[in-house]
Parts: sequence; C-alpha cells; structure tokens
Amino acid sequence: LGSAAAVLVVVLLGAVAPAAPVVTRADFPPGFVFGVGSSAYQVEGAVAEDGRKPSIWDTFTHDGYSIDSATGDVTADQYHKYKEDVKLLHEMGVDAYRMSIAWPRLIPVQFGLCTDCFDFFVPLLLYLDGRGAVNPKGLEYYNNLIDELLSYGIQPHVTIYHFDFPQALQDEYNGLLNPRFIEDFTAYADVCFKNFGDRVRHWSTVNEPNIEPIGGFDQGILPPRRCSFPFGFACDEGNSTTEPYIVAHHLLLAHASAVSLYREKYQAEQGGKIGLTLLGWWYEPATETTDDIAAAARMNDFHIGWFMHPMVYGDYPPVMRKNVGSRLPSFSDEDRKRVTGSFDFVGFNHYIVVYVKADLSRLDQKLRDYMYDAAVAYDMPFLKLNNQFTFGLTNDFMTSTPWALKKMLKHLRVKYKNPAVMIHENGAAGQPDPSGTNTYDDEFRSQFLQDYIEATLDSIRNGSNVQGYFVWSFLDVFEYLFGYRLRFGVYGVDFNSTARTRYQRHSAKWYSSFLRGGELRP
Ligand code: NOJ
Repeated sequence: LGSAAAVLVVVLLGAVAPAAPVVTRADFPPGFVFGVGSSAYQVEGAVAEDGRKPSIWDTFTHDGYSIDSATGDVTADQYHKYKEDVKLLHEMGVDAYRMSIAWPRLIPVQFGLCTDCFDFFVPLLLYLDGRGAVNPKGLEYYNNLIDELLSYGIQPHVTIYHFDFPQALQDEYNGLLNPRFIEDFTAYADVCFKNFGDRVRHWSTVNEPNIEPIGGFDQGILPPRRCSFPFGFACDEGNSTTEPYIVAHHLLLAHASAVSLYREKYQAEQGGKIGLTLLGWWYEPATETTDDIAAAARMNDFHIGWFMHPMVYGDYPPVMRKNVGSRLPSFSDEDRKRVTGSFDFVGFNHYIVVYVKADLSRLDQKLRDYMYDAAVAYDMPFLKLNNQFTFGLTNDFMTSTPWALKKMLKHLRVKYKNPAVMIHENGAAGQPDPSGTNTYDDEFRSQFLQDYIEATLDSIRNGSNVQGYFVWSFLDVFEYLFGYRLRFGVYGVDFNSTARTRYQRHSAKWYSSFLRGGELRP
C-alpha cells in the first residue's frame, strides 16, 4: 500500500508540476540588445596594409612570444571580407555587432617623417607625430564597415581600444606607463567620436583595463612583457610591485578623460552612450572558511572593485588602499570628479568562476605582486597549463557555471548601485577539429550560451539593469592567449584556406532561431 501511495503522489505531482518555462527573446525588456563580438587585431588581418602601423601585439607575435608563434597578420581577414561578414550577421539576425577600432590603423604614427629633420627639431616633431595624422584608408575602412552594418539595421557597438596599443608610442614613451598616454588616448578617442559618432550610439572606451595591467605588467605574459623576477613568467624588465597599479590608473584616467570629452563635445548632439568593458570573472571562496570567504571578497575588490569603486565612489576599494599602500596611485580632486560617474553603462566580459584561497602569509613577503597584495591564491580549474604554455584542453573544458554570472550581477546591484550593464562577452571555447576540417558541431556551445542567457534573464527579473548580451565570438579569431588552438566562433573559419572560408556551426543556427523568436532550447 505504502509504495502504491508513493506512486500515486508522484503521478499527481507530475500532473500538476508546471512545465519549465520556456524563454524567448520577448521575455527580455524592450530594447534589450543581442549581438556577437570581435576585436580589430583578432579579426581584421591586413596588418601592414593601407598605412596601418604595428601595435605592441604585432611585435609580440612577430618576436615569437605567442603560443605556436601565431599572429594576427591575416587571421579571419575581415578587413577584406567585411561585406560577407555583415551578410552573415544579418542572416543570423543580431541587433548589434561589437567591434573595435585599431588605433594604429586609424592614427599610424609616422616617425619616418622625421628622418630628414635636424636633431634639434626631432623631439618636437616626434611629439606632434605622437598624435599623428588620421590615415584616410583607416577612416575609409571603418566608415565602410559601420555603413555596411547600418544598411542591414545592425548597430555597431564600438570599443575604442582593445589591447592593440601603437608600438611607436610604446617605443617613444613607454606607453601605458606614461601619463602622456592619457592625452594621446583622448586625442585618438576624439578622432573616433568626430568621424564615427554620427552613426555609433554605443562606445566602450577600453576593453579589460583590469586584465591588461596584470598580463602585460605583472605576469609578463602579454605585451609589453613587463614584470619582475621571480613572479613573472616571461618578462624582459619591469617592476610588478608598482607598474600594474600605475597602468590601471592611467587606463582609468584615460577612460574618464574620453568620457568627459564625449559628454562635453558630442553626446548632446550625437545622443550615444559611453562606458568601458571590464573582465568580470567571479571569485568564489574555495571553502566555506571565514578566511577563504574574505579572500574571495578581497579578490572581487581587487579585480572588479579596482575600476568600479573609483567610478562609483571616487576612490580605490579600502582593502586595496590598505594592502597596496603608497604604491597605489591617488586621485587629485579633479581626477576624482572626472572618474566618479564616468559611465552610462559598464560592459562585463564574463566567462568563468575562479576559486580563491586565502594566503595571508603573502602579505609578509618583501617582494610583492598583484596576487600577493590581494593575499590570495587562486585556482582556475578550467585551465590546465604547465609552464611551457601547453594547454590540455577539451571542448567541454569551460564548465558552465551560470550561477557565477548571477552572483556577479547581484554583487553589482548591491555594491555598486545597480549600474546599467552590457554583457559584452560570454562564450565557450572549443578546439579545432583534429581532422583539420574545423567543422565540428558545437552543441556544447549552444547549451553553454543558453545557460547564460537564462541566467541573464533571471538576474533582470531580480532587478539587475542588464541591457544587452553579446556572444564572444562571431568568428573564430586569433586568441590573445591561445592563438588558434582555441575556437570561440559561432561561425568557424578555415584558417588553412586562403579564402578563410566561414562555416556556420550549430550554435550560430541555434542563436539565430532564438533571435528570430524561437524558444531557447539547444
Ligand atoms: C577577452 C578579450 O576581450 C577577448 O579579446 C578574448 O578573445 C576573449 N576574452 C576570450 O579569451
């Protein structure tokens, strides 16, 4: 009798249990933007064409520091294939394309002009050239791309600076380490607003200013390869106890300066919005001990708070002030005013959760780096790498943890006054097909994206002000850390063919059907 009753209860419950609600895009608030993204160096190719000059990424890859010595010299060749690409975007049905402008394509610095000058004048001319003349071919390319997108009703969401810093400015004054960067960046942003702002309604000043200082100036694994022994993997020179903080400070001030310029000179007339894009990994305690919980909170402050805290409250998080002390730059009154509130939205690139352990002993070390300052050790279970940088990855190595996105968005709601947010990147990496044909099906990616789109909707229902979601990436591209070993594209690219043929993956079809009103099902 007992078991018969149990069966009856199960049957009845089954009959009344509501079916899981099916999500369609109509569930999202009106005006919510769905898109896909890329960035200039990763997708354009044509690095020596039509007047483009090298960026620090050209130098880094040509010097053989990237994995497999991979380069962005040709990559997906979007420079030549942009019309075909825009057609694909249209077929997919996206509202928007997140793209970036290559500074060294738009304003190539022409040191060559000075070779005939008298020595006395050289410094002056170099200084002027640091701003550089606008390259008409660069202008033409971005005008064409933007116009092509708009002709299909696709909105360009434009990042002004996505890691490809001009090598000439690096050589001339040490790039991001020098406050002159702020001036030059503002002048470059001005050229972008002036020339494209009549058609671009969404600007992100800088991409992941909270990762570039660590990769490029602390760990030395990204250009310009600075760090300090013994913490960095691969540095030429540097001082990782101070440089990441200086670089981040300059990036923050450059961002705020470009925002002020946009607001004063362009926003009223052009009617666009402006923000910046942060890497939004979520840091979770490795165990439930008080120490690990505090360590994860510290890490969220060091990573997300590094930019959010000054932009919302006018200074770095108190724990950074405490741990980093005088090595953390301070804000003048004028800078503080500029930085506070310097965004209409904040973009977040969210991929993974990182588990954090407390390591308080690190605070006693004499030599410090970023992680030592945060007094944490962390574990990225998704990455199995040894110090030769060989990656043991499989197609499902990026575990789907959509709860981490929800926690991050809640953190923004609670701690940073619920800013308007764009999920600027979210996606899953796969490996190239071992057959070399690159035609693998990627249901794992469709499932991954579905999980995160649902988590986004859930967060909106819980009060988060998320206004857009962009899949990373539109195409397979040159990956900064992984070269061509990892593929993020919903469209694959055959890098073995000169034509760089694109092919549609399962995830592109799946995204398209959702975008056209279909139910969210992999
Ligand atoms: C962050 C960066 O913005 C982008 O350039 C990169 O390719 C993706 N994440 C994936 O690693």
